[in-house]
Amino acid sequence: MPMSEAAQLVLGLAIPLMLLPHAGSLRIGYSIYEMDSGYAQVLYQLWVGSPEFALPRQFLLVLVVWIHGCIGLRASLRPRYWYTRAAPFLASLATLVPALAFAGVVSAGLALRSAVEANSVDLERLRPPPVSITVAEAVNRLVLIYVALVLSLLVLRAIRNWHARRFHSVAITYPQRRTITVPSGLSILEASRWAGIPHESVCGGRGRCSTCRVRILEGTDKLVPPDILEQRTLRRIGAAPNVRLACQVRPVNAVTVEPLVHPQHAAANQAMRFDAAIGGGAEIEIAAMFVDIRGSTELAQGRLPYDALFLFDRYIQVVTGAIRAQGGHITSIAGDGVMSVFGMDRQATARGALKSALGVWSGVDSLNADLASELSTSLNIGIGLHFGTAVVGWVTHNETKSLQFLGDTGNVAAKLEAQSKTLNCKLVVSLAALDAASVSAKTLETTAVPIPGRAKLMNVAVLRRRLDLEQALEQPETKRTLEDISVSAPSADGTNGERE
Ligand code: FES
Repeated sequence: MPMSEAAQLVLGLAIPLMLLPHAGSLRIGYSIYEMDSGYAQVLYQLWVGSPEFALPRQFLLVLVVWIHGCIGLRASLRPRYWYTRAAPFLASLATLVPALAFAGVVSAGLALRSAVEANSVDLERLRPPPVSITVAEAVNRLVLIYVALVLSLLVLRAIRNWHARRFHSVAITYPQRRTITVPSGLSILEASRWAGIPHESVCGGRGRCSTCRVRILEGTDKLVPPDILEQRTLRRIGAAPNVRLACQVRPVNAVTVEPLVHPQHAAANQAMRFDAAIGGGAEIEIAAMFVDIRGSTELAQGRLPYDALFLFDRYIQVVTGAIRAQGGHITSIAGDGVMSVFGMDRQATARGALKSALGVWSGVDSLNADLASELSTSLNIGIGLHFGTAVVGWVTHNETKSLQFLGDTGNVAAKLEAQSKTLNCKLVVSLAALDAASVSAKTLETTAVPIPGRAKLMNVAVLRRRLDLEQALEQPETKRTLEDISVSAPSADGTNGERE
């Protein structure tokens, strides 16, 4: 169990212990004995009644609750793509809020204490009534009951573990033939933690990050098939059939497993590092765009190398300039194919990619016009654009850092670009991308195309004229477009194809 999770657990268990004397006495006192305990009475009790015990306990309670909450929030926000940028602001907020709260309480408490010493307040109104002793006894009993419940839970767990190990144990074998015996009912991740075997788990066992994944070498057939949550995560990473999420699988028979992501604590601390990103640290929604020239070989034929290089350079400047103008990142240039990624918020990302496709399109048109006298045939480009999730991170090579992304979204963008040849158009954009950009496809030509490696057809819009894209982007933004689009070409199975 990572330190932060263990700390969160311990702090969480400590909260009722410290909260009961405060909240319990107020509630019981008010509900049963009609005690009027407002802020002034509580302040008096803390600063004058019990400054050596109740006051530090109350401060500690605030700190414990706050830290517990911050750990939980950090765990849930860390995978978001904006987290790294927002972290300094969030850290300031996390420090300022309790600091200001303490400052307020200290200021009020000191003022009250001075007033009491100067005898300038109505002490009768502030002092706890005699019945508060009965309330305090009831609260003490509640604290004891809570402690007894926690202790009995721990004891019962120990008995259950002993019983399960004795009568229902499961053997899990790790690499190097290291076999552990754990109570049946534990997940493989819990079993690793149980045995102290380091096991990556960026999302804390919630089935979202896939970093706990293991290859099942033996015993696959005896495992319960993956549920929907696990299936979704496995599908997203394109996992092989014998790969499972260790946090979701609870073996009841012996299994042999091989963890596939090796714990790298240093990398996991930097969500934008590539290693951590592979571990699910920075999975975000992105738009991927792939641009390529058709017939580039013929274009270079019969030209002097310098000439071809000049042409190529002009083309690359046009494409990369249009991508950067919309906040996109170039992730690779291979020959004349340019892959780029856009990743701001959902709508800005997809719209930025569409605008950048328009920029590339008009830039290449202008280039064709400029070079009309030199080119026997115009530069003919194809663009594929898709929107989906990907793991994004920096790859460092020597001194250079470059942004890269992993996932199916980039592959699909490249496949859609290939479809632009078949469909004899300039741009093929998935309806998922249009939907994310809040651009209606009602006025556009739509169809469903096969994507190699996918069982279902994908709904796409086919753009042959630049004007169509310009007009689509000028339309007022729509909320959802997928539901009201009818796709013109039916898929092979007679349906409208995959709803992406
Ligand atoms: S720990 Fe994240 S999917 Fe299992």
